[in-house]
Amino acid sequence: MEKTAYPNIEGHRAEHRQFMRELEILRHELKSEGPSPLFAIRVGNRVTGYLREHIYRTDRLLGEWLRAQPR
Ligand SMILES: [Fe+2]
Repeated sequence: MEKTAYPNIEGHRAEHRQFMRELEILRHELKSEGPSPLFAIRVGNRVTGYLREHIYRTDRLLGEWLRAQPR
């Protein structure tokens, strides 16, 4: 993103940071409550939700940008 001066670099990075915060929250929840079925459901919802949205939207836009750049 830096090499090609990607215009949405900050927005993209912000989503990565948000995901890292989400993982940190899940880590604390796992530590405090253990690997309960509810915890597993929350992991599924939060992690797959983020990955689905980020990969399908944000990473796809980045890919389109990169493919449009001169080599
Ligand atoms: Fe990304």
